[in-house]
Amino acid sequence: MWKMKYIVALFLLLTPLAALAAPVPGKTVLTISAGTATQTLDAAALLANPQTRDITIDDDVSYKKTMHYRAIPLATLLHGMKLPADSVLEAVANDGFVAALPLDLVTHTQKGAAEAFLAIEPPNAPWPALPGKKQSAGPFYVVWLNPSASGIRTEQWPYMTAQLRTADSPAKRWKELAVAENVSLESPLRTGQTLFATQCMSCHKLNGAGSADVGPDLNLPMNPTEYFKADALKKYIRDPSSLRHWQGMQMPGFGKDALSDHEIDLIVSYLEHMAGRKKQ
Ligand code: HEC
Repeated sequence: MWKMKYIVALFLLLTPLAALAAPVPGKTVLTISAGTATQTLDAAALLANPQTRDITIDDDVSYKKTMHYRAIPLATLLHGMKLPADSVLEAVANDGFVAALPLDLVTHTQKGAAEAFLAIEPPNAPWPALPGKKQSAGPFYVVWLNPSASGIRTEQWPYMTAQLRTADSPAKRWKELAVAENVSLESPLRTGQTLFATQCMSCHKLNGAGSADVGPDLNLPMNPTEYFKADALKKYIRDPSSLRHWQGMQMPGFGKDALSDHEIDLIVSYLEHMAGRKKQ
């Protein structure tokens, strides 16, 4: 019985702590950091911003249908912030997912290019749950108008975003991702590296490098090209559930619109190459 008392005492002690850590209801905030400057914006203020408008996304990558949003151009949000050169904008979700968005596209400097928006989930009119998930894409979701004009990839539509921050581009930041120096500049291995950084590193690390923490490291301790038959690995990337299936699986399939057969080959060649370049 004495144990019970301790458990109750511990419970009483922890309850107020848990309440402190919980987010304040009705206040959903987005943190934006560029270089050394940081600003925090709440959803209500963003919805009230005169630059926020209604947009229609015809082929929403996450909802897989036409969606309507209240959204503000990312370029407007970043306006006036000093953006370090050779950096990307990382969109960080609460679950460890981190997408890297090219800054020149996000700041929308080229005419006719894709345009990035931050869609804001209205607290009084929440979005539906994402297909196969219990939650919606809120509180903040990066969507694109005209995405094909700039080759925007499916992993560059980060949902459940809580933070935007500038960071050095992956190739500059992590030499652990680099191909061997004697690989020519035109080698398809380098294209594979870039594709891997955009489509896979939003969830995976490689050689311990990367910001995300959703899936396993794809080189340490073993590289999937060392234990998957080549065809099975390509099949897995196209559709993980074609190899094995369970309720909690999180890795999305990459349809042909997300990665062509050739692009999957490029990623696998890069992985094969990196199996010989392990960094502990
Ligand atoms: C949205 C997150 C996400 C993205 C994006 C993603 N993965 Fe995964 N991946 C996972 C998770 C999580 C697992 C662990 C299995 C699971 O839960 O589905 C996994 C498992 C794997 C495995 C199996 C490892 C093993 O030993 O079982 C391979 C191989 C793999 N991913 C390769 C890739 C490649 C290549 C890409 C890019 C084309 C990619 N993944 C993109 C989340 C992701």
